[in-house]
Amino acid sequence: MKVTAIGTGYVGLVTGACLAEMGNHVVCLDVNPEKIRILNEGQIPIHEPGLLEVVRRNVEAGRLQFTTDVDMAVQHGTMLFIGVGTPPDEDGSADLQYVVAAARSIGQRMTDYKVIVDKSTVPVGTADKVRAAVKEELVKRGLGDMAFAVVSNPEFLKEGAAVEDFSKPDRIIVGSDDEQATLLMRALYAPFNRTQDRMVVMDVRSAEFTKYAANAMLATRISFMNELALLAERVGADIELVRRGIGSDPRIGYQFLYAGAGYGGSCFPKDVKALVKAASDAGIPLKVLTAVEEANERQKHVLVDKVVARFGSDLKGRRFAIWGLAFKPNTDDMREAPSLVIIDELTKRGATVAAYDPVSMPETARVLGPRDDVTLVDRAEAALQGADALLIVTEWKEFRTPDFDAIKGSLKAPVVFDGRNLYDPKLMKALGIEHYGIGRGATV
Ligand code: NAD
Ligand code: UDX
Repeated sequence: MKVTAIGTGYVGLVTGACLAEMGNHVVCLDVNPEKIRILNEGQIPIHEPGLLEVVRRNVEAGRLQFTTDVDMAVQHGTMLFIGVGTPPDEDGSADLQYVVAAARSIGQRMTDYKVIVDKSTVPVGTADKVRAAVKEELVKRGLGDMAFAVVSNPEFLKEGAAVEDFSKPDRIIVGSDDEQATLLMRALYAPFNRTQDRMVVMDVRSAEFTKYAANAMLATRISFMNELALLAERVGADIELVRRGIGSDPRIGYQFLYAGAGYGGSCFPKDVKALVKAASDAGIPLKVLTAVEEANERQKHVLVDKVVARFGSDLKGRRFAIWGLAFKPNTDDMREAPSLVIIDELTKRGATVAAYDPVSMPETARVLGPRDDVTLVDRAEAALQGADALLIVTEWKEFRTPDFDAIKGSLKAPVVFDGRNLYDPKLMKALGIEHYGIGRGATV
């Protein structure tokens, strides 16, 4: 089939590349010429495991191309995927300007039947807005009768596992009121849907809602565990043991049950805010979700609270090593990363920071800009030299079994604030390392 991905970010690029992998002819369009230049030079603008190989293979096979040429891109696809950003507006609601602009650019150019697929995360009712924008542009061109369908197909991939998640989805949500469009979506997704039927077809509004409900549910689990961790610490229980104890119940399950330094990324924070705002606008305030967001804001400060409890609130003259900057492992994405709050809180109190991340240092440098109080170092060990303590913020694999002797030898005193509960508190005690985890009340 002929497919166009409008917006070549995390979602658009992964969608385009993975659909090309199944034999479709895909054009990826972006308004950012720099992204398209990088892609046309055989590189990818993001760190995403396995993606470069899929992209290169399909470019070489002639099934995948990248362009800023809107005319060509709109003409090319029968299926036009909109995967542009939906960032939070000032009031927390999803800013739909990029989605509507993409819809207009389609309406201004299409000359035959198109299935317009909303892949961006968008509030209930957005498909109607997309339909109206396309129609308005068609009417302006005297083509008001031209047929097209608008389908909702939210994306559930996780960064760092995006190719795997897209290629082996646990569900494919299709919101469609148009039979022909549904059939085309079935055909397009058939290769990803072979062992069992994972496609759930529903009305458009329910599909739009499903995406927010999923992210809100997952964020709720994390915030709830983070709150339980605070309590566990206070009453002398270990949240890691509690996690295993409750995760074994299949109704609860083990995934997304890790207490930590707070959730970040480009989805949970903005989607929780958008759903809270949409609910309040609809007159059904979501009290639980409001608390989820508040708990997460507090959680991003928990590690620094522990630093302050240990070293005092005046951190002038102190230096802290940070391991892990990306909002989660296997990505260089820094959007809403808890590390940014932690760096801010430490430096605000007069400390300096030496930070290391296996892949997100260039992105961190871009986001932070030049800073005297933050040094980005190119090896984990280098961050430790002469630091008062080590803070673990992202659970990259290479931090899981470090050289503890080197940690002890390089820090001024062996103090570790373990924001992702990587280390066994008993082992740390045995090694003579002062260890502060999240919710490890029974063992500290
Ligand atoms: P992104 O910022 O990485 O990419 C969006 C791209 O769209 C940018 O490259 C931008 O230049 C481009 N763009 C904007 N307007 C355009 C237009 N009119 N025409 C062509 N290109 C245009 O965003 P993302 O992380 O891929 O997220 C996209 C959407 O998917 C959001 O709604 C997000 O919530 C949702 N989503 C993201 C993830 C994720 O893990 N990142 C997962 C699921 C869903
Ligand atoms: C999320 C959703 O998982 C995905 O389905 C959706 O399509 C996009 O948003 P992503 O943000 O890429 O994916 O990563 P995810 O693995 O969900 O992690 C989000 C944040 O939650 C990270 O900051 C992570 O550290 C945190 N997290 C996750 C926890 O604190 N504890 C956990 O148990 C799991």
